[in-house]
This record gives sequence, structure tokens and C-alpha cells, in this order.
Amino acid sequence: MKNAPVKISAAANVALIKYWGKTDLEKNIPAVASLSIGIEDLRTETIISESKDKTDTLVGRFKKYEKKRILNYVSMAKKLLGVSGGLKIETANNFPSSSGLASSASGFAAIALGIDEFFALDLPRKDISRLARLGSGSAARSIYGGFVQMDTGTDPFAAPLKLEDPWLLDILVLVTEEQPKKLSSTDSMNLTKGTSPFYSAWLDTQENDFLRAKDAIIERDFWKLARISEHNCLKMHSTIMTANPPHIYWNPTTVKILHQVQKIQEKGLQVFFTIDAGPQVKLICDPSDTQLILEQFESMHDISKKIVTKVGGEPRIERLT
Ligand code: DP6
Repeated sequence: MKNAPVKISAAANVALIKYWGKTDLEKNIPAVASLSIGIEDLRTETIISESKDKTDTLVGRFKKYEKKRILNYVSMAKKLLGVSGGLKIETANNFPSSSGLASSASGFAAIALGIDEFFALDLPRKDISRLARLGSGSAARSIYGGFVQMDTGTDPFAAPLKLEDPWLLDILVLVTEEQPKKLSSTDSMNLTKGTSPFYSAWLDTQENDFLRAKDAIIERDFWKLARISEHNCLKMHSTIMTANPPHIYWNPTTVKILHQVQKIQEKGLQVFFTIDAGPQVKLICDPSDTQLILEQFESMHDISKKIVTKVGGEPRIERLT
């Protein structure tokens, strides 16, 4: 019987406590635990159907190396799950990809969820998360929405942080450059691990950061979460900047935004920043202050796009008939 096509919408996520470094390249095992929030409106939409010519085909705007990475992943995933048949994968992001807005997270999460649904495997979510991790570490977290944690271990998977009531926070994505990044997270992590003198300090202090952030979320303490998230982000970037050769993901606008955030914080507005492997800045805002915070960036014309969204990002799965 022919399987009906499936449509998946998976959201990007941003880590407040970052995953940076691997203990095993092949199994893609993160060296540290991480904690993220799903970004409701930054999404990858992927349709998986049977391919006409029995081979896997990918439809979308991809560079040659990205296409190879995705097709290798699909073939590895099918082998691992013991399923066969050529797949047609149509996928598109509603945000600029490969520029530090976490396209690999939503992209691989959508494919992992899509393969499970297409072949009606009904895998437990933790196994889908593990499958997504094999594509990209951060993708393991995009299997869920909201606050998500990811541990280390021999075959780790992500899990949602159970909160009594959801903590409604806004996310303001400030895009400072839409060009693809020059150094992938994978390559940068390996370089950092091999050459930064700060890498061991990064590993040694991560557990404490992770536990403090978790406490802050449970206590719903905005400023506690702000302090630890900014510190963790800057610590990750310090290891990247002190790799050999060094790498700086930021541009002048990124730095300008950080100074502006500090000024806004002094006014008492509830906002903090985080930056992934790219020049874009994500601001986490208390919804009562979001509008005022946005106004503080009105005159910064070098910000090419401002996306106002919120914590969320539960994946949507649909079988098309
Ligand atoms: C800075 O998940 O893109 O966004 O596993 O090599 O594909 P690979 O790396 P990736 O790295 C994410 C790095 C980060 C931090 C984070 O999301 O935790």
C-alpha cells in the first residue's frame, strides 16, 4: 500500500544554556547539557512523500554540501529504522537559513518527525529526539516546544521541562546579516575543542550554569535566568574567539545591540540577550515590556529584520490524503 504524504512544521529553538562541543563526532554526542526555548514563528515546513524514481530526492534551496548532508542523513535514518523506499523531501524555512538562526535544528527535527510519521513507526518521542540528534545536536530539542533540556550521556535525547504553568516570554529576533555563515557549528566546535585554552573551563562550569538556569525557570526569576543565560552565551563565544585560528561570529551591529541591551536593562526593562553561532541577536523579553524594548531599537537602521515572536514551537504533524 502506498503511504500518504506527511507535512511537518518544526520550529527553531534558541539555547539559553548552550550545547557547544562533542564527545563523539559520529554519534553526535554533545559534551555538555543544554537548555533551550522553542521559537514559535521560526519554522521549517517539510513534506515527505514517495519518490517516483525510488531514490531519495530533495526539493528546496540548498547548497551542494547541505544537500549531501541531508540526503546522507535520510539514508542513514532509514537504515537505522529498518525501513526502505525512495523519499521525496520538499522543505523550506520561513527565515534565512545557515545564518545562525538554527535552520539545522528545525530542519532535522522536521525530517526525523516526518520519517516517523510517513512510515507510521509511532516511535516514542525520546527516540525521535535521538534520531534528530544524529542530524544535528540542537535538532534533538526541536522535537518539542517550550522549555527543553538535553543531557549528555551515551545516547542522549531531549525532554521538555515540565512547568506547572507555561512561562510566557517574548522573543525578539534581531537579524543583522542575512548571508550564510562562513564557519559551520560542527567545524567551529571541533576547532574550539582542539585549540581553545578555555575549552576545559567551559566543560567544567557548564553543569553549574545548567542547574542555575533550571532553578531560575522553576522559580520564574527573570533576572536570575537573564544573568546566567548571558554569562553562558558569552562564555561559549569566548571559547570560539580564543580558538586557533580564532573565529568571531559577531559583526559591529551585534556588538552595538549588546551595549544597547545593557542600557535598556539599566532602565529596568526586562530583557536579556543570547547569540548562537552567527551574528544575529535574540532578545528574551517579558511581554509587558516588549513594545518598549522594540522602540529602543527603532533608530538602529543596520538591523535588517526584527521578528517579534514568543516561546512556543510545538511541532505540527499532518497526514495529507
Ligand atoms: C550555538 O546543533 O548546529 O546553536 O550538532 O554539529 O549540527 P551540530 O551543531 P548545532 O550546534 C548548535 C550550537 C548552538 C548552541 C545550541 O543550540 O545549543
